[in-house]
Amino acid sequence: MKKELRSRGWFGKEGKDGVIYRSWMKKQGIPSFELDSGKPIIGICNTWSEFTPCNSHFRQLAESVKHGVYEAGGFPVEFPVMSLGETLIKPTAMLYRNLASMDVEESVRANPVDGVVLLCGCDKTTPSLVMGACSVDLPTIVVSGGPMLTGKFQGRSISTSDVWRLNDAYRGGKLSNEDLKAAENGLCRSDGHCGVMGTASSMACMVEALGLSLPGNAAIPAPDTARKVIAHYSGMRIVEMVREDLIMSKILTRQAFENAIRVNAAIGGSTNFVVHLLAIARRIGVELNLDDFDNFSRNIPLLANLQPSGTYFMEDFYYAGGLPAVMKEMLGHLHRDSITVNGKTIGENVEQASCYNRDVISTMDKPFNPLSGIAVLHGNLCEDGAVLKPSAATPALMKHKGKALVFETIEDYKKNIDRPDLPVDETTVLVLKNVGPKGYPGMPEVGNMGLPPKLLAQGVTDMVRISDGRMSGTGFGTVVLHASPEAAAGGNFAVVQTGDLIELDVENRTLKLFVSDEELAKRKAAWKPLNPAADRGYVSLYIKHVEQADKGADLDFLKGGSGSTVTRDSH
Ligand code: FES
Repeated sequence: MKKELRSRGWFGKEGKDGVIYRSWMKKQGIPSFELDSGKPIIGICNTWSEFTPCNSHFRQLAESVKHGVYEAGGFPVEFPVMSLGETLIKPTAMLYRNLASMDVEESVRANPVDGVVLLCGCDKTTPSLVMGACSVDLPTIVVSGGPMLTGKFQGRSISTSDVWRLNDAYRGGKLSNEDLKAAENGLCRSDGHCGVMGTASSMACMVEALGLSLPGNAAIPAPDTARKVIAHYSGMRIVEMVREDLIMSKILTRQAFENAIRVNAAIGGSTNFVVHLLAIARRIGVELNLDDFDNFSRNIPLLANLQPSGTYFMEDFYYAGGLPAVMKEMLGHLHRDSITVNGKTIGENVEQASCYNRDVISTMDKPFNPLSGIAVLHGNLCEDGAVLKPSAATPALMKHKGKALVFETIEDYKKNIDRPDLPVDETTVLVLKNVGPKGYPGMPEVGNMGLPPKLLAQGVTDMVRISDGRMSGTGFGTVVLHASPEAAAGGNFAVVQTGDLIELDVENRTLKLFVSDEELAKRKAAWKPLNPAADRGYVSLYIKHVEQADKGADLDFLKGGSGSTVTRDSH
């Protein structure tokens, strides 16, 4: 028997309730037949905001989705949700990922929606929307906003990954303030999110690999007409998905998550992928743990030669064939029968894909870099794990022993890092504490802390750096991130001190602190958390309930979902 549309619980009602549900909608100029005739109502969840410049073209994108929805016999209703602009939000957009996901979940469930189109772009706007939608579990399709065109500065190509290099050059006295300004003006040339394989592009690839978007969605640049076309097709397809009852949980299987981990390795995706995918898995009810990221990416080489792990930009990636070309190349390592939003399998979706530039997308036989994926480290400095991105690290530092220079807070780091008498050389291990989920709070992207100017001036370009925070997907270096438990949670990381000996051994996946258990116990007995808890509002809720990075840094009470049923009427 055909399932009744959930929107009929609003627009199909008789009497007073039906009048109220329909009449106020009609005042927007909607003819009766749109609401009366049982068309699927498609919610278009829009993260447009001028404070989220990466998503500032989303009103136009929503129009393309609407054309597709109308064409397929549905009725589109666009609605706003909290939009997280990575570059502007203080203290960090990650603090609000879970809040935005609550907004999405409750907005979708509370309204007469049969199927959802998620308009995602800037880093956190993808995981927050997908997490929220998972907890409702309706037919759902993702349309990404697409990356920016490649930036230009003094005749050469640049993009957001260059911010770190330009800043190091400026701090080391090799770039003038005027040139830095000129670079700033050429960095972000068009609509779209960061034009490298940073977090936003990794998230767009993640949803495509999971099967939540139409094939090819991830790489199409924002200004390209193909972006509007895929939005149009997605609008058409979501109407069919409602008719087929193709809900998220039918697509997001354990196999889909394994595919996403392997694809993230092949593209050199962001370390932020780890916390976001863990959180999504926990919302949809799939068992996934930190070690899965290492296990499933171990034999996958880096195929995509894209910044920050390589040379090229997302625009080049699109011209080279985009994600379908990567997935076709590595199909033997994927669950090819995993179903996707278009009703076809991953294997069917990519079998016709072609690669047009082997410099950009290499082959499994001759990969761009045999190192890829996410290395998950264990040891007494991170009892519940930490992560490192081998393809973005310096090979010579992947096995390294050195003395710690500890910064207790980001303010401590900022105050002292430029000191000419800083007790540091290139063998020192920089440690930054209290930038984890609870400690900051919100786990900001400060893990790839800039190097001391006195070493930059000597030509040092990388050092081992360890923190309980995150790193921008556009960042690089031999950077150990997400140390769990974080300093604010009182594990061994909380009591590491300047002068302690630390050993990083990526091949053996270990991170060791050479301090005796007795000494650690003594330090812990004297340890006090640094940050006073916030006493009101969302931040206090967040600090009380946020889980550690190895579990996805979601709020503990948001795990799982509540489905799409609402039993009580509003009148
Ligand atoms: Fe929005 Fe990079 S700042 S994607």
